[in-house]
Amino acid sequence: MAEPRNRYSTVSLILHWLLAALILAQVLLITAHEATEGPLARQFVEIHKASGMLILVLTLVRIGWRIANPALPLPDTMKRWEKLLAGATHILFYVLLIALPLTGWAAVSARGGELSWFGLFDWPLLPIGGGREGYRSLIDIHGVVVKGLYVLIALHVLGALKHQFIDRDNVLHRMIPLIPRRP
Ligand code: HEM
Ligand code: HEM
Repeated sequence: MAEPRNRYSTVSLILHWLLAALILAQVLLITAHEATEGPLARQFVEIHKASGMLILVLTLVRIGWRIANPALPLPDTMKRWEKLLAGATHILFYVLLIALPLTGWAAVSARGGELSWFGLFDWPLLPIGGGREGYRSLIDIHGVVVKGLYVLIALHVLGALKHQFIDRDNVLHRMIPLIPRRP
């Protein structure tokens, strides 16, 4: 099947925007968790854990898809360091989107907690001990990895805005086809 050259495939678009929405939801769920108390607060963490595991699975699917369907070439007008920075950001996204759920999963496993996937089935726990202390250390790492993700998102969005408003090329159009293509 021929790949349209001026935008990403529908599967790539769905994976990109679904994952972006899920990441935003993760942060909102933790914010809601911190703003509430009791069973409701616990419910927010349960959803956070389940949708975090969904992010792990979707990221693995996305890496497989990306290997089978390489990214579109970046415009020739970009400098070498800009292309390298864009490529490094994308690879680091994948690394962090695996590391983040893994540290969450490991933390829950250390405490011997439950990891129900929206009440449908239980994920197996990783063979990690450490009890409450292990949990705390791993959640601290989880919190640090999230900060790295925030830095990447900021870089990535600034890059997208630079393409759209300074370079005035079609890079944003190929990830948001609703934005009109420039001639
Ligand atoms: C990409 C996916 C994920 C994102 C963006 C994310 C984001 C976050 C953030 C921002 C926090 C607050 C950290 C802090 O206060 O320092 C947090 C806490 C936490 N996350 Fe995640 N997380 C993800 C995946 C997971 C997964 C898969 C699990 C477990 C299976 C998990 C379990 C937890 C737990 C238990 C906490 C601590 C909640 C509390 O304060 O009691 N997370 N996460
Ligand atoms: C948490 C949010 C986000 C994550 C994790 C993320 C991740 C990625 C990754 C990994 C790629 C590489 C292409 C691929 O492998 O499919 C990519 C491409 C892209 N993203 Fe994002 N993205 C996010 C949010 C955004 C936002 C908010 C925008 C727009 C303002 C955006 C615009 C783009 C564009 C234009 C490309 C294509 C770059 C190219 O053509 O090479 N992304 N994104």
